[in-house]
Amino acid sequence: MTTFPAELILDYSAPVPRYTSYPTAPNFTDAVNSQNVSSWMSALPADEAVSLYIHVPFCDRLCWFCGCHTQHVKRYDPVRRYLDSLYREIALVSDTIGRRQLVRQLHLGGGSPSLLRPQDLRRLRSTLDAAFEIEPDAEISLEFDPTDMIAEDVESFCAFGVTRASLGVQDFDARVQSAINRPQSFAKTREIIDALRHGGVESVNIDALYGLPFQTDDTVRRTIEQVVSLSPDRVALFGYAHVPWIKRHQTMIDEASLPGALSRFRQSRIAAAALQRSGYAAIGIDHFAKPADALCVALSKGRLRRNFQGYTADPCKTLIGLGTSSISQFAQGYAQNVKTVQAYDRTLEDGRLPIERGATISARDRATASAIEQLMCGFALDATRLRQDHGAHADGVLAKAAMIAHRDEDGLFEAVETGFRVTETGRPFVRTLASRLDDYLKQRPARFSAAV
Ligand SMILES: C[S@@+](CC[C@H](N)C(=O)[O-])C[C@H]1O[C@@H](n2cnc3c(N)ncnc32)[C@H](O)[C@@H]1O
Ligand code: SF4
Repeated sequence: MTTFPAELILDYSAPVPRYTSYPTAPNFTDAVNSQNVSSWMSALPADEAVSLYIHVPFCDRLCWFCGCHTQHVKRYDPVRRYLDSLYREIALVSDTIGRRQLVRQLHLGGGSPSLLRPQDLRRLRSTLDAAFEIEPDAEISLEFDPTDMIAEDVESFCAFGVTRASLGVQDFDARVQSAINRPQSFAKTREIIDALRHGGVESVNIDALYGLPFQTDDTVRRTIEQVVSLSPDRVALFGYAHVPWIKRHQTMIDEASLPGALSRFRQSRIAAAALQRSGYAAIGIDHFAKPADALCVALSKGRLRRNFQGYTADPCKTLIGLGTSSISQFAQGYAQNVKTVQAYDRTLEDGRLPIERGATISARDRATASAIEQLMCGFALDATRLRQDHGAHADGVLAKAAMIAHRDEDGLFEAVETGFRVTETGRPFVRTLASRLDDYLKQRPARFSAAV
């Protein structure tokens, strides 16, 4: 088993982006606006299937660790008002595209889309069907907070067409749950998963975290054992991102209760080893999947991708984000929606796409983005493929990669016949290695979460 010296872990745990896009979101500016995005939408090829992401920025309890764009609601009325704006945005996007564009994947995230009520799920589905042509075998996934629902609620999500359910677990330990304001029993979690499976949902994902307050090697080990006993098809294992300067409610977490960088690293290794021993294959930096899962199949065929939802087998080139803070990805660039519900409502009342900022993608960016995606997905950089796809624009990226390999004294990154590879020791630090290809990082320093 690979050993990791403490100095290496400390050196490489400095904060860097997660590279779910390149250029990354801190580099988005108001240079991209709704006019740009309108022209990108109307230029979409008629026969190209797209992915949709819908953001539901509400929760009926705020977990103190939460880093998502969400807000606590005590009543349902704000959710219903928000949905009215969302329906406007869906219709406006479809009108701008000029047709009912084919949809291959639909993901509802948040916040907690699991708080949507049956009549609203029905109206959302019919609004989507009027605006888009959702393929009959499209993947429809939704994020569930098992604590805000009962087994009977599951029926309406199955009727909506959900094929993949993603459930937050984080940690089953009572002390950890109390420190993050997320009481969630194992029995309730199992009840919801059973109901989803019974209702025909084919695939279940569970999110688990390390690095939370009061987590120890033992709590992580026990939680992963419990997670495995639920037999999810996928597990996403994230390191807790403590960013109280962005998420004020995280100040409710006593920093003295947080595990240090070395403990975090050990917890991540313990969880990863337990999952792998239980038959899950490691996918990229933070996912684990059963061998038959689409992520494993995509990895073995070299088709694994990374986008704003993390690792995906989604082949679509275009992702259209709907709802506050959602990010769209077009061939020409990225665009993020306004973040507050008030600004979202206002812009849509005016009949405009609610775009706040974004980034266009240059040919060099595209080459760097491909190189970073190759590293984050397969821990290797194929020089021939990069040159084939990006011509002369690959040269500067490959020269940078050669410099990283040349300067590497830690045995993390090496030149090989086909290009470059991240060594076994280098794998946990691939975000940091990828950041060395990032042309923007030094120009515009931003504060990110810890890299490991
Ligand atoms: C939108 S939430 C999941 C759905 C649902 N709201 C829930 O909590 O069960 C998406 C996932 O993001 C992860 N997450 C949220 N805040 C995080 C943070 N500060 N650091 C790392 N992961 C975080 C959690 O694992 C969470 O399950
Ligand atoms: S973790 Fe999930 S349920 Fe908790 S506040 Fe964040 S989005 Fe809401």
